[in-house]
Amino acid sequence: MRIPLIAGNWKMNKSIEDARSFMQAVSDRLPEPAQIETAIAAPAILLETMLEMNSANHLRIGAENCYYEDSGAFTGETSPLALSEMGIPYVIVGHSERRSYFNETDDIINRKVHAVYRNHMTPILCCDETMGRLEAGEKIHWVVSQVTGALKDISDDLARQLVIAYEPSWAIGSGKSASADQAEEGCYLIRQTIADIYGDDVANQMRVLYGGSVNPDNISEIMAKPNIDGVLAGGASLDAKTFLQLVNYQK
Ligand code: 13P
Repeated sequence: MRIPLIAGNWKMNKSIEDARSFMQAVSDRLPEPAQIETAIAAPAILLETMLEMNSANHLRIGAENCYYEDSGAFTGETSPLALSEMGIPYVIVGHSERRSYFNETDDIINRKVHAVYRNHMTPILCCDETMGRLEAGEKIHWVVSQVTGALKDISDDLARQLVIAYEPSWAIGSGKSASADQAEEGCYLIRQTIADIYGDDVANQMRVLYGGSVNPDNISEIMAKPNIDGVLAGGASLDAKTFLQLVNYQK
């Protein structure tokens, strides 16, 4: 059985004080991880504060990015080894903002996926899709090539633990989510791609999330789809009250 994962991606939107207030507001009010896993991916500079304040230990505190080497002369980068030492379970890799603003290629993303696994963490691999590609009928080729590129030389056992997020760039931050059917189609395509590479067994175990303008009003319809195992929410994860509404989508 795939446990739902309701995850937030804060991007670069919070100060240390903001992170403290959020943790105070949510820490004791989250579901048991065995029923619904909840996570927030935050900038590296906030992680220690958040880990210290995660009293009930129900929230998975993730990183938004890391470098693909463990150490070395890479000024300003975040070491995956250090993240792992802190006890970070998840690292977002390949977000469309990293692909477009920081020129991350499938090759760089593949190296990062290896680095995250090498350090015993789980990547949340993001795949995007632009409106231009959708309209040009290139969606399938584009999504498949991102998945295969990112997972080059990743073993079956590692792929089994993977989380992939389908995040069409046209739905990110736009307030216009993909419809539940469009979200399901993208997530299904990703699961089929994993089945083609690793077989049905792995494809049925790994989790696929949808991201792009998810909010408390649309989450239930999205979560009802068979190939969607969770969401990756940006804006709606910033406010503690709204995040609690997301994680309680079943109530
Ligand atoms: P929004 O939920 O703000 O559209 O952001 C989605 C996203 O980019 C999550 O990674």
